[in-house]
Amino acid sequence: MRVGILTGGGDCPGLNAVLRAAVLAGTQRYGMTFTGFRDGWRGVLERDAVPLDEASVRPLLAVGGTVLGSSRTNPLADGVAEGVARVRASLEALGVEGLLAVGGEDTLGVATALHEAGVPVVGAPKTIDNDLSATDATFGFETAVQTAVEACDRLVTTGASHHRAMVVEVMGRHAGWIALHTGIAAGAHVTLLPEVPVDLDAVAATVAAALARGDAPLVVVSEGARVLGEDAVRDLPRDAFGHVQLGGAGEQVERELKARVLGLSTRLTVLGHLLRGGTPSAADRVLATRMGLSAVAALARGDVGTMAALRGTDVVQVPLADATGVLRTVPEARWAETSDVVW
Ligand code: F6P
Repeated sequence: MRVGILTGGGDCPGLNAVLRAAVLAGTQRYGMTFTGFRDGWRGVLERDAVPLDEASVRPLLAVGGTVLGSSRTNPLADGVAEGVARVRASLEALGVEGLLAVGGEDTLGVATALHEAGVPVVGAPKTIDNDLSATDATFGFETAVQTAVEACDRLVTTGASHHRAMVVEVMGRHAGWIALHTGIAAGAHVTLLPEVPVDLDAVAATVAAALARGDAPLVVVSEGARVLGEDAVRDLPRDAFGHVQLGGAGEQVERELKARVLGLSTRLTVLGHLLRGGTPSAADRVLATRMGLSAVAALARGDVGTMAALRGTDVVQVPLADATGVLRTVPEARWAETSDVVW
């Protein structure tokens, strides 16, 4: 069987580890051959493809990004029927009999529509945001949190030297998982998520109290936090999946804190794409590898329309539609676990 692989949407650490595991196991266990599509669905539409073999993927385990490239091209943007027909024609022309789509809500949403139209496709879930339903975790998330925590640990020491409040903005478009875990692991005094309304007076009081007892306040802000009651938007034009570019939540927090806490010195650090780059953590290498293995095994046995998912400690295949129907946001109970303690 010839399998086509693509990586779509925002990249994350671990994508190359999936490619490596899928190609090595697919070749050795099932006699598959592999075609890599460049830049996600763009490569499928434009038939921009490269052969992937064991030698080409073997060195990729620890390499950040994706050697295939990625894009936010939406093949269904001009209509589902037309998009499906173009994808099908490309696959047929290249002799691809099964597709492995590695992506987040958008890429897997397209994969779901293709499956419903009869295209043999399986998925593997990636995103630093960790916001996909049907899996307990996505690879990339753990590495992103580790990077953010390391940055916070450094920021806190310089903040302490200068008696400053350090405001740190992290990614997480609609879900606050990165901010929540970073806040807990870095010992933040305040953590602001998209899921929880922001009470700026309470934030200011917490910061002032931390300063008063000699701490350097650490404020972790998700880019999706609604600091002034709505999304902070950097760039309005929407991408092919309808997303605006977020940005500015951290600036808003800094400004509002200064207006409320007399004489407050603050510094803002926007971690942004730092969280997406670099080598995957050991845990993400393991998860990505297991997901790549599960996905090709599913293709081999014809279990299409499914996605590799972590359930407890097992990696299993679940229906693609379950992954993309509802975004997995931070539930109230997870927030309540830590939010009322003075850290
Ligand atoms: O969805 C993953 C993500 O990293 C979000 O956290 C962030 O808002 C977005 O992608 C940024 O995407 P871009 O690569 O277009 O800047």
